[in-house]
Amino acid sequence: MAKDKSIFTCTECGGTSARWMGKCPSCNAWNTLIEGSSEPAAGKNRFGSVHASLAPTSEVLPLAQIQAADFERHPTGIDELDRVLGGGMVEGGVVLIGGDPGIGKSTLLLQAVDALQRSGMNTLYVTGEESGAQVAMRSRRLGLPDSQVPVLPEIQLEKILHTLQARQPGIAIIDSIQTVYSDQLTSAPGSVAQVRECAAHLTRTAKSTGTTIVLVGHVTKEGALAGPRVLEHMVDTVLYFEGDTHSNFRLIRAIKNRFGAVNEIGVFAMTEKGLKGVSNPSAIFLSQHAEPVPGSCVMVTLEGTRPLLVEIQALVDSGGPSPRRLSVGLDRDRLAMLLAVLHRHAGVACMDQDVFVNAVGGVRISEPAADLAVMLAITSSLRGKALPKGFLAFGEVGLAGEVRPAPRGQDRLKEAAKLGFKVAVVPKANAPKKNDKAFEGLTIYPVDRIEEAMQVVRGLD
Ligand code: TYD
Ligand code: MG
Repeated sequence: MAKDKSIFTCTECGGTSARWMGKCPSCNAWNTLIEGSSEPAAGKNRFGSVHASLAPTSEVLPLAQIQAADFERHPTGIDELDRVLGGGMVEGGVVLIGGDPGIGKSTLLLQAVDALQRSGMNTLYVTGEESGAQVAMRSRRLGLPDSQVPVLPEIQLEKILHTLQARQPGIAIIDSIQTVYSDQLTSAPGSVAQVRECAAHLTRTAKSTGTTIVLVGHVTKEGALAGPRVLEHMVDTVLYFEGDTHSNFRLIRAIKNRFGAVNEIGVFAMTEKGLKGVSNPSAIFLSQHAEPVPGSCVMVTLEGTRPLLVEIQALVDSGGPSPRRLSVGLDRDRLAMLLAVLHRHAGVACMDQDVFVNAVGGVRISEPAADLAVMLAITSSLRGKALPKGFLAFGEVGLAGEVRPAPRGQDRLKEAAKLGFKVAVVPKANAPKKNDKAFEGLTIYPVDRIEEAMQVVRGLD
């Protein structure tokens, strides 16, 4: 057999290059190109004749004449999962679930697929990482010893496709896509080329047979194995697990969803008996201090339609000649920017200090509305003075020191008032009208600039 032509594929964006480079020519990320053959073996058609193309070929029609039936959905009965999926699994849809190893992907999917099997659906659980016995052990642990879910321990794509064709299940779980390999490629299982090719075949099968396919993908920090990022564009729905494995809480976030809203989250708690939905999660990311401590500021973040209260912690401590800036759950570049704004516009200097910030509970906050809380936490740590009890703040801070409104600010404030918060520093445009009953018990300080916010806080000492 002719040797495949080697090319290099970016693990971040999936872009390719004919030779190795330190920087990806497509997305400019560093050290992301890894060798992976994308060419099929000579003489073979990579799309095979057995599998139809993405959709059956049909004539060209004006949009108005195309039947647009609503998608057939199958709720899993796990409310928090259905919420991120936009109402349930969609027939012929392909879902990618990514997350760190050990976070609970297999657990959740086994629970979901068992519920679907019980509701009368034909299911299939393909396991490449664990043996059938290990999956069975998990089902016992989940309190499902009588589960009828058919399990196929298999990693070879062609055999998996064959079983899918033969059994025609309503839903199939592939755990995980990184273990699946195709005979038609010579590169190693888990390489970008294999993962992409196998996922493409499975996607095509889903579209042509109407089977819902759920792909499990590990997030890998190193480029040695292809992470789920290279698959994002070819699937319908991308869900990511968040949360640190040391805490019990797990978030599932929809990053992309052709059948529902993005950025919706589902909240779960890992228990003895698997993952349980948390229906009222707004206060789970607050750590419980008996008395306020310096370096802590609560913010309200908005995840999809849900307001969540999250504690931001900062520690500012004298550093060496090149002080460190570290952040967990927040963007590090943004932290550097906020420190510059603090210095320039509020006169708070941290140049010779190590600065660490952390969003409690393993949540990741990507919205800029966290800015104000981050800056107040840093200042509080630097001064060694705690913010008052029941204090919260949110709002984006710009380079000019202005405080910009956060989307749906009043919903955030309502949630805080409901949970008994007392004092809020918020962008002026987010402040509600005076005497609004929904905010009773909450004293709101609207601010326009970061200096003003600092003044308000000093006034509360
Ligand atoms: P798992 O679903 O195997 O993770 P992944 O497939 O994402 O790699 O779950 C891993 C962790 O969950 C494992 O450390 C044990 C824990 N766990 C529980 O706490 N309770 C349970 O009922 C189960 C099944 C797992
Ligand atoms: Mg697993």
